[in-house]
Amino acid sequence: MSLREHIQSLQRNEKLAVIREPVSTRYEMAGILKKLEPRPVLFEHVKESSFQVIGNLFCGKGPFADYFHIPPARIIAALSGAIANPSRPAEWKGGVAPCQEVVNLAPDLDELPLLLHCEGDGGNYISSGVFLARHPLHGQNADFHRAMQFSKTETAIRVVKDRHFDIFLQDRKTLDVAVCIGLPPNILAAAATSVAIGFDELTIANTLEPFAVVPAKTVAVLVPAEAEFVLEGTVYLERRHAEGPFVDLTETQDIVRDEPVFEVKAITHRRDALWHALLPGALEHKLLMGMPREPTIFQSVNRVVRCLDVHVNPGGCSWLHAIVQIEKRHDDDGKQAIEAAFAGHRSCKHVFVVDPDVDIYDPLAVEWAMATRFQADRDLVIKPRAPGSSLDPSSEPETYNTCRLGFDLTKPLQSAGKKFEKTPFPDVDLSTFGL
Ligand SMILES: Cc1cc2nc3c(=O)[nH]c(=O)nc-3n(C[C@H](O)[C@H](O)[C@H](O)COP(=O)(O)O)c2cc1C
Repeated sequence: MSLREHIQSLQRNEKLAVIREPVSTRYEMAGILKKLEPRPVLFEHVKESSFQVIGNLFCGKGPFADYFHIPPARIIAALSGAIANPSRPAEWKGGVAPCQEVVNLAPDLDELPLLLHCEGDGGNYISSGVFLARHPLHGQNADFHRAMQFSKTETAIRVVKDRHFDIFLQDRKTLDVAVCIGLPPNILAAAATSVAIGFDELTIANTLEPFAVVPAKTVAVLVPAEAEFVLEGTVYLERRHAEGPFVDLTETQDIVRDEPVFEVKAITHRRDALWHALLPGALEHKLLMGMPREPTIFQSVNRVVRCLDVHVNPGGCSWLHAIVQIEKRHDDDGKQAIEAAFAGHRSCKHVFVVDPDVDIYDPLAVEWAMATRFQADRDLVIKPRAPGSSLDPSSEPETYNTCRLGFDLTKPLQSAGKKFEKTPFPDVDLSTFGL
């Protein structure tokens, strides 16, 4: 399914809020998306652009799973299965590819509905752009980079150190890229996945749901033929520009850094292309960051103890916390699971391990397990000065070192006469009492 077919189906099922009043990309759109979250929103009239804007598309595991017609509990298995069985997208055969219906070789970013999200932001941002880049040795890579516009054709992009895109750029100094906007969730989730260098994330996306690719018009990169927009151009390692401030995943303002410039040299798009506004720090951003870490944590934990489920939860910014459900068979399984969870997600700061009777999607239930099953001097794992996340404002400046904590919230195997299970209330049939 293309993204627009999905949007049409949301509209048919009355799940889409359609805003017909003219709305500005300057603060208004971000404010409306946040107020209506998690409801998907279509902005039909954009004050600064002739293109329509869509947002809040996948604000949780529910809407993501609905797209694939699977229950949310199947997502980890679906993502793991796609990583284990990658497949090449087909070549687009149907004549002119939708993403190339319009080819503009004299691009002007001012014509696009780039949002200015929050007071204090450094500029208008592209927040949903999937960067496709090719390296002669490693092949094609897909990942996300936020891009702050500073002229009609230039943006400064945030490139996190040591990620594959950074490795490509450090090696080549200039990289031709195609930045796709308006993509279905198989490609969004795959691009947010970290796999070995040389592993083309589009092959993960194709197993999740098959699609076709087409060569970009001016750069040697294959792009999803049904994308809404493709921005083609070059990223320069040594041409730098201030990037930020920007409100990031933690909903706090990230600092200004000198970052590589992405110069846009061509824009191709559908005739009536839809711009995907991905609200930074909000639920859709959180889902795409956290969910792809769940299979890696799951697999790592499952190697040492039986893992039942993992939730990289929004309360932990969908990045810094992981809640891991295990079936405990040995006294030290909780601690083993903590170590394995850290190995499965290197930016994780706090891990909570729970038993099968604790609902990992209910923060009150997890806190209940902490209140009733946890003793800090016995069940807490402390790892001072561990590598942390650049996203965590409390991590050490420059090094991003952090203190990792693991909370073993599982009950002891031997209960010494104490009850650790919740006692259910009597089950009554309310209709017997006229209720
Ligand atoms: C919505 C979203 C925005 C992101 N923005 C950035 C960014 O601005 N810079 C960056 O380096 N990584 C960003 N990331 C993270 C990378 O896309 C992610 O870590 C990716 O999986 C790394 O790819 P790699 O394994 O090919 O290195 C973002 C991820 C998501 C889901």
